[in-house]
Amino acid sequence: MRRVSEVRVRRRCTIACSGSFADDLKSCLAGFSHVVAVFDLNTQRFKDELESVFDEIGIRANSLVLNFHGEAIKSLEHYLSLVRQAASLDFLRRKSCFVAVGGGSLTDLVGYVAATYLRGVSYINVPTTLLGMADASIGGKVGLNLGKVKHLLGSFHYPEAVLIDVGKLDSLSSRVLAAGFGEVVKTALIAGDSRLFDYVEGHARAARAKDPRVLEEIVRQSIEIKLRLVEPDWQEEQLDRLLNLGHEIAHALEATVGFDDRVLMHGEAVASGIVAAVELAKDRDLLTEAQHGRIAALIRGLCGVVPLGGWLAGKDLLASLGAVERVRDGDMRVVLPCEKIGHARVYHDVLPGELVEALTRANLLDLREGNQP
Ligand SMILES: NC(=O)c1ccc[n+]([C@@H]2O[C@H](COP(=O)([O-])OP(=O)(O)OC[C@H]3O[C@@H](n4cnc5c(N)ncnc54)[C@H](O)[C@@H]3O)[C@@H](O)[C@H]2O)c1
Repeated sequence: MRRVSEVRVRRRCTIACSGSFADDLKSCLAGFSHVVAVFDLNTQRFKDELESVFDEIGIRANSLVLNFHGEAIKSLEHYLSLVRQAASLDFLRRKSCFVAVGGGSLTDLVGYVAATYLRGVSYINVPTTLLGMADASIGGKVGLNLGKVKHLLGSFHYPEAVLIDVGKLDSLSSRVLAAGFGEVVKTALIAGDSRLFDYVEGHARAARAKDPRVLEEIVRQSIEIKLRLVEPDWQEEQLDRLLNLGHEIAHALEATVGFDDRVLMHGEAVASGIVAAVELAKDRDLLTEAQHGRIAALIRGLCGVVPLGGWLAGKDLLASLGAVERVRDGDMRVVLPCEKIGHARVYHDVLPGELVEALTRANLLDLREGNQP
């Protein structure tokens, strides 16, 4: 097992990257007597592979396939459905383990079920999207959306292990892959140095073509950076988090479209947020023209950058930004890249209107007719 890292916060979490997936899964399940594996409509393609591992080690196992996929599964309805199914399977606390097989939406949902079922049971993440591998399955944040608020219900609950096999990205659509690069570029811009940014920039074509060695290196660096940033403050006591780069706008955009990822995926929303942040950073002379150009080119080349003008009204976005501000104690904290690529800082003096204008200047939002804020 090639371990990226072992996180010791409240408990040990093993993160294994592209070793032997079956062997890693077997060793992580030692000590459990019942496993419930959760898949969605798209990830049930991995069901046979996991079930044959369960058969080999002779563990009692049940597979549950959600009849949905994407952001819509982060709902109370799917939460209750999973809890009820687990209860009907006599899923007990000490020796049972969930295995979440899917993208960030599914690992967020199953992680939240695991955090709350019987006051907390173990779970293992098997992320199957780039965003899941590089970001969402790492760090212990789990949750659901309710009404217009993202993660209104949530918790911090570390998985027992995260098993990453970049081969599982082969079946991913180019849109979902591109959205994943939104979080990768975010991580590269807050890393503290330009190593990940330079690597992604230099291997963009291979990354888009799903070259496994390139994707594994990108995932490995992203995880190392995320763990370094998360570990000192794993329960987010500090609100000035660099990891929120692009997310002020992203959450507002997602709320504006009612978390409908057919319109806008989370990673696409993050890419839009980064575009706005980079634009603002150039205006404030925090970045040179050349740095701005490099970052903008990478985002547009690699991430799913969606033109927002056709369906988004500036005033709706402003209202959603206001809600994000309220959730964060009335203080709009905005992370902006500054000085050098890989460096960023939190700014408290950015007005929501400035973010909307920055999106407009970057040609993502068209505020001409009917879309005035
Ligand atoms: N917990 C965290 O720290 C954290 C961090 C970042 C993002 N997130 C969350 O992650 C979610 C987005 O995750 P995502 O981008 O992985 O999207 P997703 O989980 O919604 O998956 C996107 C689509 O890809 C499909 N899919 C997944 N794996 C596949 C595969 N191997 N082959 C074919 N199809 C596959 C899914 O069924 C779904 O339709 C958002 O809800 C976001 O809030 C959480």
